[in-house]
Amino acid sequence: MTASSLSFRIAVLCVIAGMAMGIGMAVTQNHSIMPAHAHLNLLGWVSLFLFGIYYERRPALNASRLAMIQVLLWSVGTVILTIAVAAIHLGYTAADPVAGISSFMVLGAMLIFAYFVFRPASSGIEIQTHMTPAE
Ligand code: HEM
Ligand code: HEM
Repeated sequence: MTASSLSFRIAVLCVIAGMAMGIGMAVTQNHSIMPAHAHLNLLGWVSLFLFGIYYERRPALNASRLAMIQVLLWSVGTVILTIAVAAIHLGYTAADPVAGISSFMVLGAMLIFAYFVFRPASSGIEIQTHMTPAE
């Protein structure tokens, strides 16, 4: 399994859950968990899908263990953040420290991603250009 295929799979699971939450909010006319819905969709669906596209274009990075760890850390952080934020907005304020810890997991995963983006191109990353020999 590559980092991109893991990203795409988890992203799709997140948006299915996020859309179900959205429909649940609309049906019950209770939007109290809106921040959890927004972050599940934006961190879980949009951001993970963007990571997947980035990794897919860099085959060496895509096959690396650190990229896999980045995707897993981001995904676990997002799921915990979503549950904790929903709990807080449903009145379970004891979930506050859990939301805090998970936000640092997500930040940590973004710092790993920032390392990939900023490190010198000579560190083994190849960008797929899709050029044929005739080009
Ligand atoms: C079946 C699909 C969806 C339904 C039924 C749905 C429903 C809702 C509802 C009822 C709200 C609360 C609006 C409010 O109280 O002002 C909301 C907010 C939000 N939704 Fe969705 N949603 C869906 C999919 C998505 C997706 C796919 C995304 C992101 C890619 C998304 C992003 C957001 C965001 C960012 C907010 C917060 C907007 C704000 O700050 O006012 N939603 N959604
Ligand atoms: C460590 C990561 C993050 C933390 C701790 C965080 C925290 C927050 C907080 C506290 C709010 C205000 C919620 C409220 O007033 O009820 C908020 C709103 C929002 N955030 Fe984030 N955020 C994070 C990452 C992101 C990212 C990466 C995106 C987009 C890709 C995003 C998109 C939004 C949007 C659209 C809103 C307004 C909708 C809402 O109220 O839920 N956030 N965020």
